[in-house]
Amino acid sequence: MPQPEMWDLLFKRDDPAVHEVRAVADAPLRAGEVRLAVERFALTSNNVTYARLGDSPLRFWAAFPAPPGYGRVPVWGFARVVRSRHPSIGEGSRCFGYLPMSTHLTVAAEPTTRGFADTSAHRLGMHPWYRHYRIAGEPEEADDHRALLRPVYPASFQLAELALRQAAAGARSVVITSASSKTAIGLADRLLGSGIATIGLTSARNESFVRGLGRYHAVAEYRALDSLIVAGPILVVDFTRDTTLLSSIYRRFAGELTDTALVGLTRGARGFEAPDPPELHDPEPTRFFAPAAEERAVAAEGEVGYYARYDRAEDDFVTAASAWLGVRRGSGPEPVVEAFLALLSGRQRPEVGHVLSP
Ligand SMILES: NC(=O)c1ccc[n+]([C@@H]2O[C@H](COP(=O)([O-])OP(=O)(O)OC[C@H]3O[C@@H](n4cnc5c(N)ncnc54)[C@H](OP(=O)(O)O)[C@@H]3O)[C@@H](O)[C@H]2O)c1
Repeated sequence: MPQPEMWDLLFKRDDPAVHEVRAVADAPLRAGEVRLAVERFALTSNNVTYARLGDSPLRFWAAFPAPPGYGRVPVWGFARVVRSRHPSIGEGSRCFGYLPMSTHLTVAAEPTTRGFADTSAHRLGMHPWYRHYRIAGEPEEADDHRALLRPVYPASFQLAELALRQAAAGARSVVITSASSKTAIGLADRLLGSGIATIGLTSARNESFVRGLGRYHAVAEYRALDSLIVAGPILVVDFTRDTTLLSSIYRRFAGELTDTALVGLTRGARGFEAPDPPELHDPEPTRFFAPAAEERAVAAEGEVGYYARYDRAEDDFVTAASAWLGVRRGSGPEPVVEAFLALLSGRQRPEVGHVLSP
């Protein structure tokens, strides 16, 4: 069946296997609004987490309104302004930001120092991080890797800062779960040569990929945890939210843990359900939220200084990524659905990243 010219991809919130493409009418813009045509976006487990936490206080479903019972899963990518009723945002400008799985998005734009923000009422409750569009240059080769890594590298960067603070206070190792995830790899990469040892835990099928990265000091599959020797004191950075795994880590390294940062939700949930936070003590885990950590760093360091340091690190990481991360391109709703369901079920190989166009 031919696709309509403008469409939204909708997923049933209680059953992601049910999805549909809905045609969208071309509504006129109000003063101050701009219409973005989505060019390409990446899909990683991070987007699955947005759906799982859609109804949490982080309100990810609120970003892009959908009919009752359905959600539009947020993604990150590049878009172009195809119509503008804002005097200082010209048609043809290109930007990077938070997008729906749709052909188009209309935003109530307000210029900022690095681009513009969406001030639409339904998005005002979200952290500004999820409302900001950064002006981008014309397409270039690194854009696919940028789309895959830019959404998560700020977390890698901030977690590395946390690990370095802990190292200064005496920690000797960081144990990192879901070590094959892009966010974890960014963290291990940033800590190379820093003096704190990184120990990557991963599933059996991803162990050789993680080892081959050469980013971790040691790598083990989850089942080998009991025989793992790690120098304490130890910081745990958890991307799984897998209570059984975390309990085993607490048992194995009892008395040696300094802190546990709960970062992601890659394992132990079905559909769009979010697993419960684990009940662990000594130390009680801390929830990590990259936008808040970055906000604190910007406040302490100043916007110009912080982003100069951050942008350099992101550029280096993106430039080197083609050595370990291949790109699978696709266009139209079917490849988007296929890639999303592969991520949801854990079938996705870590050495391949999806970059899709509507
Ligand atoms: N809190 C924050 O501010 C913040 C910021 C950035 C990212 N995150 C979170 O960090 C996590 C990683 O994101 P990413 O985009 O870097 O991930 P990614 O590159 O797509 O990697 C995902 C990895 O998670 C594991 N996994 C994924 N789905 C699974 C399933 N169904 N069953 C079992 N294992 C599965 C696999 O690793 P293993 O085999 O190695 O376990 C897989 O390689 C996400 O939950 C994301 O939301 C949080």
